[in-house]
Amino acid sequence: MIEVSKWLAEARTELDKLDVSGSFERVGVVDHYGDGIATVSGLSEIRLNGLVRIGDEGLAIALSLSKDVARCVVLSSGAELAAGMKAVNTGAVARVPVGEELLGRVIDPLGRPLDGDGPIPAKRSDPVERPAPAIIDRDFVSEPLTTGLTVVDAMIPLGRGQRQLIIGDRKTGKTAIGIDAILNQRRSDVVSIYAAIGQKGSTVARAIDTIKKHGAPDRCIVVVGEADAPPGLQWLAPYAACTLAEYFRDRGRHALLVIDDLTKHAAVYRELSLLLRRPPGREAYPGDIFYIHSRLLERAAKLSSAAGGGSLTALPIAETQAGNLSAYIPTNLISITDGQIYLEPKLFYEGHKPAVNVGLSVSRVGAKAQPPVLKDLARNLRLAYAQFLELEVFMRFGATVDERTRKTIERGRRIRAVLSQPEKAPLSLAEQVALLVAVESGAFDEVPVAEVPEIEAKLAAALDGDMAAVADRIDRTGTLDDKDRAAILDCVTRVLAQSGATAAAKGAEDGATRQA
Ligand SMILES: Nc1ncnc2c1ncn2[C@@H]1O[C@H](COP(=O)(O)OP(=O)(O)OP(=O)(O)O)[C@@H](O)[C@H]1O
Ligand SMILES: [Mg+2]
Repeated sequence: MIEVSKWLAEARTELDKLDVSGSFERVGVVDHYGDGIATVSGLSEIRLNGLVRIGDEGLAIALSLSKDVARCVVLSSGAELAAGMKAVNTGAVARVPVGEELLGRVIDPLGRPLDGDGPIPAKRSDPVERPAPAIIDRDFVSEPLTTGLTVVDAMIPLGRGQRQLIIGDRKTGKTAIGIDAILNQRRSDVVSIYAAIGQKGSTVARAIDTIKKHGAPDRCIVVVGEADAPPGLQWLAPYAACTLAEYFRDRGRHALLVIDDLTKHAAVYRELSLLLRRPPGREAYPGDIFYIHSRLLERAAKLSSAAGGGSLTALPIAETQAGNLSAYIPTNLISITDGQIYLEPKLFYEGHKPAVNVGLSVSRVGAKAQPPVLKDLARNLRLAYAQFLELEVFMRFGATVDERTRKTIERGRRIRAVLSQPEKAPLSLAEQVALLVAVESGAFDEVPVAEVPEIEAKLAAALDGDMAAVADRIDRTGTLDDKDRAAILDCVTRVLAQSGATAAAKGAEDGATRQA
């Protein structure tokens, strides 16, 4: 008798362990598969942007729904898909893991790691498509987002929460500006997200390498939808990157999102739309191309203090053909953003890098956020530089000019030299201020233009050394009092005297060689 009750108890615990609950799946079938598009029938309850599992390893997103079929864009590369396969409605929309765990990682738009550093232990995931913050939750752009590029920070200042387009022909340094802005965040608390769309693997690898070497990689996330990836993944990349950035924005922190680039994104979306048999419109783009970009960029915002006070700054990049700013996608993006940085091939080939055309670039909201000292300096600078650019055109014809005009031109050349900057070397506010104070005071007027970079380097070294207290004050307060201005000018004179001495010595040496 005892034996039986023991046996019964054991049998009961074993039975309790058994999972006999059923699961319920909504299953359809792939009618047709080709060009990365699966036409699925039988999924009557599928939602737009819903995820569909095809076979065992295929994943697709429903982008076009009609009464009988759903057209789904395949997101998984390498999966062998074919007509007749089982298609399961997962009931979920596309999501990406978000959070601190993502910092320092390189992922694809669905959050799968691409850096070989193992799985990502994220605790939370958010949909890649999310609504933009309501107007009531927004605030005015009021804090600067510095790029470390003097020409941008002084003349086309950016504020946190702003959307600024970087636009120009191919190979004019667009990516370089976006990456420099990310590198400069090593001086701030801003989290950077770089979204690479439709780029070659080697180009992306170079960008990641630059961030690792010169930036703050542990405050940076890279989202890659590279050229070889399925078009669906490339299309998702900026939305996923934006969701990652929003995580920080919504927690009172500051994020910078660089999208490289939206022209390729538009081309990928056109490809998908044509395959989904949507009617083509202007330049064969689908009718909602403006909407897909505006709903992405609307998510960039400065939130009100009631909403946490965080910000998301977006720097989308766009490519023009032969400088044509009035093409379809560029005009769309210009009208969606709060300003643009226009890069000109001519300036680039002449060696004036970054090749920013100051006349055609504008920042509509950033000036309110500019540090007061830069605002003061930029006022005179802009005027002097504009005068110079106008006069320079005349000089091409070999005109002889009076002394005052000559001086304006010489000053302009030095301003341009100061605004030129190598990539991967963003400057601190103090360095920018010291250079602009020097050029404004006329201290550089006698320095040969070719020697300006050398003087700049020496000045930077001095700001790191015995001028560190002054530099720190400028960086901290964003202002410059008379005493510090005098100290800077003093330092400039000292640096010039040293270099002057070496130049004179070199001249004497040359003379001696010639006599001999
Ligand atoms: N400030 C700079 N100083 C020196 N070289 C630069 C500077 N900015 C960019 N370059 C160089 O110019 C080349 C083109 O730059 P980049 O790749 O950023 O241009 P892009 O416009 O993004 O090109 P693409 O159209 O291929 O995307 C690169 O070799 C880069 O190293
Ligand atoms: Mg580029």
